[in-house]
Amino acid sequence: MKISVIGCGYLGAVHAACMADFGHDVVGLDIDERKVAKLAAGVPSFHEPGLEPLLQQGVADGSLRFTTDKTALAGARVHFIAVGTPQRGGSYAADMSYVWTAVEDIIANASPSPDGPIVVVGKSTVPVGTAQAVADRLDEAGVDAVVVWNPEFLREGYAVQDTQRPDRVVYGLPDDRDRGEIGRAVVDEVYAPIIEAGIPRLLVNYPTAELVKVAANSFLATKISFINSMAELCDASGADVSRLAEAIGHDDRIGSKFLQAGIGFGGGCLPKDIRAFMARAGELGVDQSLTFLREVDSINMRRRDHAVDLASEMAGGRLVGVKVAVLGLTFKPDSDDVRDSPALDIAGRLWGRGANVVATDPAGADAVRLARPDLQIVDSAEEALTGADLVMLLTAWKDYVELDPAHAKSLVATPRIIDGRNVLDPRAWTDAGWDYRGMGRRSSSIW
Ligand code: UDX
Repeated sequence: MKISVIGCGYLGAVHAACMADFGHDVVGLDIDERKVAKLAAGVPSFHEPGLEPLLQQGVADGSLRFTTDKTALAGARVHFIAVGTPQRGGSYAADMSYVWTAVEDIIANASPSPDGPIVVVGKSTVPVGTAQAVADRLDEAGVDAVVVWNPEFLREGYAVQDTQRPDRVVYGLPDDRDRGEIGRAVVDEVYAPIIEAGIPRLLVNYPTAELVKVAANSFLATKISFINSMAELCDASGADVSRLAEAIGHDDRIGSKFLQAGIGFGGGCLPKDIRAFMARAGELGVDQSLTFLREVDSINMRRRDHAVDLASEMAGGRLVGVKVAVLGLTFKPDSDDVRDSPALDIAGRLWGRGANVVATDPAGADAVRLARPDLQIVDSAEEALTGADLVMLLTAWKDYVELDPAHAKSLVATPRIIDGRNVLDPRAWTDAGWDYRGMGRRSSSIW
């Protein structure tokens, strides 16, 4: 199948590489020439385990191309829309301009297919109502196209696996049954390895497909903020949130995943998706239905305030001139993404309160050097720790989780540590002579 993927960011580049690996003839289109040049040479433009070999393979065997030339859309039967929908400046709503540019590019460049209508598959996270509006616009422009809305659920760091072996696939199909059948059959053919593997496939209408994505992300965000609100209770009462999460997670109606308390969620999806969802609910006249997401958002942002206040408290009430070693800057490990990263936000706030911040990150350092030239970034944890008055572990990279407390103590000026992700063993660090503080783990052990 000849396929185009419009937008080659985290979602699109991985999708294009995986579709080539499925045996299709794929062209990836993006407006960013530097990104396209790298991808065309088989080099990922971001950190994503497992992506590079797929890119190399596809580029080498000719099944995968990347270009900025929009005329390359001609000849494809299927067009995937995988552009970003970031938060709009000055508003909670999503910026839909890239989606609409992609639609206009299809109108201007796609060619009719001898096999039937072209199929436009939306993967971007969009406000409910978008798929129908895209279908209407294509219709008005006289393009014979079936729109299918097929949300992505990929997690950064596991994006290849989540694309090739997802938990489920959702097809949002048009109300017209004949055209819906065409869309379903074509997307089934594109996803043949997924369908053959028996992965659940749900056929739903457009609004359901659009809502599935934001509902899933809202639920995950709620779960994280729930446990972070419990962390506040634990801090106030002397309980340990990690043990609490473990105990409630044994109930399989609750489950133990996404109950890791800490400095909260960030990244390019959860924060902006819950805000765009609230904005859309307001437009639909049901803003009260999502009032709880406002609380989810504010609990999450409070975690960052709490981490900075705790740093100040541990440093004796003020941060001016205090050397703080910040371990981790990306929004989560195994990613170089610093979009809305709680770690980077906290590092910046510490700097703003006069601390001498020395930060490090295995993958995000280059992005931070561009975004925050005022922060001092060093290449290793050892360098950051040397002479530190306070250490803050803010992203749970494996190297930091496995730090040896005795060795770390030999490097710092004062052995004080804030475990912003609750990933260290409090007993081991305390026994090694550290003043250890977790998030909601004030009292870490019973004996
Ligand atoms: C998320 C969704 O998981 C994915 O399904 C969707 O398609 C896109 O958004 P991603 O942004 O890659 O994926 O990150 P995720 O692994 O969900 O983590 C989001 C944030 O929550 C990170 O900052 C992470 O550190 C934080 N988190 C996660 C917690 O603080 N506690 C947890 O228990 C889990």
